[in-house]
Amino acid sequence: MTARPLVVGVPGSLRDPSRTRTAVEAALRGAAAAGAATQLVDLREYDLPLCDGAGELARYHAGLLELRKQLAPARGLVLGTPEYHGGVSGVLKNALDLMGFPEFEGKVLGLVGVAEGPGGARHALDALAHVGRALHAWVLPQRVAVPDAARVFDAEGRLTDAAVEGALLDVGRAVARLAALRAGAPEEFLREWERLTPNPGADNDVRPIERGGASGFARPA
Ligand SMILES: Cc1cc2nc3c(=O)[nH]c(=O)nc-3n(C[C@H](O)[C@H](O)[C@H](O)COP(=O)(O)O)c2cc1C
Repeated sequence: MTARPLVVGVPGSLRDPSRTRTAVEAALRGAAAAGAATQLVDLREYDLPLCDGAGELARYHAGLLELRKQLAPARGLVLGTPEYHGGVSGVLKNALDLMGFPEFEGKVLGLVGVAEGPGGARHALDALAHVGRALHAWVLPQRVAVPDAARVFDAEGRLTDAAVEGALLDVGRAVARLAALRAGAPEEFLREWERLTPNPGADNDVRPIERGGASGFARPA
């Protein structure tokens, strides 16, 4: 297996423009800067059905088959969600429910979220972290919870805050680097992973506004 991972980003908003899509794109730029091949998967293009729990859709629905095909080769993933009523957007959760272990198990998963209010999508990100763990992904404790979206993005959905952009780039870089290590240097991956979570259970949120842009990500010494 080559050391160059594919990192796929999936924004969980259908809006146009979407701040979540902008945030995921920034994370993918970070992943590309760290040497990954990157791809944005735009859920507007897949015409997905609602998950009915029967499992039949996975076999014949063209949009879903295409979505799974896009995620299957990824070694790293970035999921983005807007905060919707204190949780993950329905469009992203539905897409996750339609997929499963083949798309997520063993992959490095970075999370970013955008909220209108000061809470920074942290409830949505907590929920996404649980989903990621349930799917046996390596959920990065480093994540970007963007608060005050109307201040951080302009009317066209472009980022206007360099600190937030820096934190998003950092998450993408981390996903790419850990995904490459996991495939090519698993012992180093584990050492690095243990360094990321020195205090499991602590508040590992990246809160770029409140922390003045510090990403919180522990780079190798
Ligand atoms: C149905 C719905 C529920 C929302 N709930 C919250 C919320 O609980 N907290 C919050 O801060 N913002 C909430 N928002 C605002 C969005 O999180 C915010 O506008 C976000 O930037 C949208 O992302 P997008 O531009 O990628 O669509 C909600 C928006 C919608 C449409």
